[in-house]
Amino acid sequence: MTPLRLIIVGLGARAKTWLKVAEANAEVEIVALCDPNPAAQTSAAEHFPDIPIGADITEIIGTDADAVLLCTPPGGRERQIEVSCAKGLDILAEKPLADNVVAAARYVEMAASAGVHLIVGLNFRYLNVTQEMRNLLATGAIGTPEFGRFTYERWRDGTQDWLNKYPLTMDHPMLWEQSIHHFDLMRYVYNTEPVQIQAHTFNPSWTMYAGDTNVSALIAFQNGMTVNYQGTWQSGHEPMNFNWRTDGSEGIIVQREMFGDLAWAKRLQTDLAPVTLSKHEPWITDATTLLKSFVSTCRGRAPPECTGRDHLQSLFMLQACILASDRSATVEIEEIRALTT
Ligand SMILES: NC(=O)c1ccc[n+]([C@@H]2O[C@H](COP(=O)([O-])OP(=O)(O)OC[C@H]3O[C@@H](n4cnc5c(N)ncnc54)[C@H](O)[C@@H]3O)[C@@H](O)[C@H]2O)c1
Repeated sequence: MTPLRLIIVGLGARAKTWLKVAEANAEVEIVALCDPNPAAQTSAAEHFPDIPIGADITEIIGTDADAVLLCTPPGGRERQIEVSCAKGLDILAEKPLADNVVAAARYVEMAASAGVHLIVGLNFRYLNVTQEMRNLLATGAIGTPEFGRFTYERWRDGTQDWLNKYPLTMDHPMLWEQSIHHFDLMRYVYNTEPVQIQAHTFNPSWTMYAGDTNVSALIAFQNGMTVNYQGTWQSGHEPMNFNWRTDGSEGIIVQREMFGDLAWAKRLQTDLAPVTLSKHEPWITDATTLLKSFVSTCRGRAPPECTGRDHLQSLFMLQACILASDRSATVEIEEIRALTT
């Protein structure tokens, strides 16, 4: 079968991983690239001398292609989605799909009307640790899960060369750029949807970010789960502290590293039993599996995973946190959903 012809839009930090992963996939052929930044174009041209490289998607959209991968900042993707839909290209968009729920919901409808797949790059779902935690819960290893604590404490120096710069000035960078992964994981692993959220977002005095980098939230889910969430980009030291604990009627599960370290225990067991995880190269293995899933969907071999429509639920959680913090009050997810209909 001929490879899936892929256009990659946005050649910044995240695209480095995607270029590597796409090149290694025999079912994918990179056919065009674009980025308005001349330095990004030059560097791409050195590695891909034979393919068109434009400054804007409209310059390369005439290239014969099947799909587009958006590695652009989440704000201002309207035209990229519009143009891709008009050309009938399936879309794999980096998370978050947009930087507000109304735009994201519009993109989902645009893709549905155009009959193209709109998939969001939620790579953490494809980690073995995530799959194993989901399995443990589904098989009832700890009975019925009823509450959890999710902690993500990181010192993220947003001025470092290898990191993107737009989060330094965006509203609520922690929520839109980072918590989006965590909220998606909660929905995915607990297999449930959010109902209401209490939250407080703020910045510590020493922050280098314009928007809030600290998020404290109490999230209630449909299946009765309550999760106590704390995420921050401006605390701690190296390495970051990732700790996700779930309490069930018969025991607990803990994940103590972002890419692994899963263990669990029944109520009266004093030692946690580690779960054996398959070998994993951070960022690469997860993106590789995600891309395989996208190709299978585009080829009609597998149902879509991480759809834009599904992703809206996680975006509603972000927006609910913002509103809850502004109001100092509980916010129902239903109120946020109503903003998009
Ligand atoms: N899934 C993950 O683990 C993960 C990790 C990092 C970043 N991301 C996501 O990837 C996306 C990109 O982040 P990044 O770190 O690469 O940011 P970045 O700022 O490093 O790169 C974005 C690139 O897009 C280019 N760009 C801007 N507007 C464009 C346009 N209209 N057309 C084409 N190119 C355009 C910029 O010039 C820049 O080179 C974001 O949505 C981010 O949240 C995901």
